[in-house]
Amino acid sequence: MTTVITYGTFDLFHRGHQRLLERARALGDRLLVGVTTSNYDETRGKLNVSQTLPERVEAVRQTGLADEIIIEEYEGQKINDIQQYGVDIFAIGSDWLGKFDYLKDYCEVIYLDRTQGVSSTQLRNDSSGILRLGIIGAGRIATRFVTESKYVSGVNVEAVVSLHGERARAFAAKHEIQTAYETVDELLDQVDAVYIAAPHDTHYAYAEKALRKKIHVLCEKPLVLSKAEAETLFELARAQDVILLEAVKTAFSTGFQRMIAVARSGSIGKIRSVDATFTKLVASGREYDEGHGGSISELATYPLLAALKLLGDDYTRLDTVSLVPDGCAIDTFSQINLLYPEALATLRVGLGVKAEGDLMMAGTKGYVYVPAPWWLTEYFEVRFEDPHKTQKYFYKFEGDGLRYELAEFARLIKDKVGESYKLRARDSINLAAMIEAARANATILK
Ligand code: CTP
Repeated sequence: MTTVITYGTFDLFHRGHQRLLERARALGDRLLVGVTTSNYDETRGKLNVSQTLPERVEAVRQTGLADEIIIEEYEGQKINDIQQYGVDIFAIGSDWLGKFDYLKDYCEVIYLDRTQGVSSTQLRNDSSGILRLGIIGAGRIATRFVTESKYVSGVNVEAVVSLHGERARAFAAKHEIQTAYETVDELLDQVDAVYIAAPHDTHYAYAEKALRKKIHVLCEKPLVLSKAEAETLFELARAQDVILLEAVKTAFSTGFQRMIAVARSGSIGKIRSVDATFTKLVASGREYDEGHGGSISELATYPLLAALKLLGDDYTRLDTVSLVPDGCAIDTFSQINLLYPEALATLRVGLGVKAEGDLMMAGTKGYVYVPAPWWLTEYFEVRFEDPHKTQKYFYKFEGDGLRYELAEFARLIKDKVGESYKLRARDSINLAAMIEAARANATILK
């Protein structure tokens, strides 16, 4: 008996998949089909698969061609499967030509011609259309965003606007963006969605303008610096039936979500304290702008997000101490203390002070340690009194991580889901409220 195996995502099952399975089946007597988990797809850069794993498995099952369906969860699994199931032939489409030659040590490897003119990517784009995206701002973060957007299918950055026209034109030329504008109104007429990467004090006006035109908004953090403004924007987004999402990259990364889930699962008992630090040494620049610059407005979103996700929003006190050195218009270092009924959070941010950027949370049974940079969560440990019980968790955080927030934004628009459970409207409103309170009531040290 000859056993054949093949693998794929099989999203929006199409005739290319059908033909591949038929030909793979014909190579032997028994066909095993591996279907990828969404987590595995994410780690290999496929960020916007439309269907769930059960839906994709069901589509493969319905062909009647698979004798057995297995789940592909991790890199390197193929070698184990081939040995475990006694596979004779590994078959895969010709788009992978040469990539699986390393399996020749274990079985025969056959590349089957790919069916022309159809792919899941194409179907995903056809069903929802390409999302035409415009960028407001042409600075550092906008540059990173364009680069990252290439990893998210179904999204095309079509235009950029900067009040400095020359800068917009140079940015567009460098990143092969079709149009550069000098006014936001012109840009809003051309796109379905905008990414706001302009100075903080412009966010509210730009977001409001876009939402009024029924344009989806992905806005850099902090969305706004007051609770009232955040509430108004989310109400407007709801009324206009469009998506408003704050671009807090950490919130959308797998490692951070798993860390929160593990911590809240009771594994370390009740969480009694959270300590998180985020510092970024910056000597000058917009971070120092009077009025809206400073370590809280620039950086506090990340540690506040961790506190919100780990301890909730029912804190009873928020106290802040900020260092504002002589001759400086902003806080260069701040500590925010949040008091909860049975826990406390100590959050530190610094633009002019450097410290280890780690996160620690203490529980009644154990603790979680996330080494720096905890906001790009790739690794964490769950530790106990008995060091033999330490558990270690590893995740990938690709590139600058902006691809995760963009993929989520595109998914919310496509699936017409009002908000992301990873960062709800309520979370962003809470973040704005906490930042507002921290800035307004800080005890100032000189
Ligand atoms: N396949 C094929 N012909 C196509 C599309 C896919 O033969 N037109 C094959 C692939 O080579 C692979 C299997 O089908 O062996 C599963 O591929 P998968 O990656 O799930 O499908 P794609 O349509 O290529 O998906 P995507 O566009 O998301 O990469």
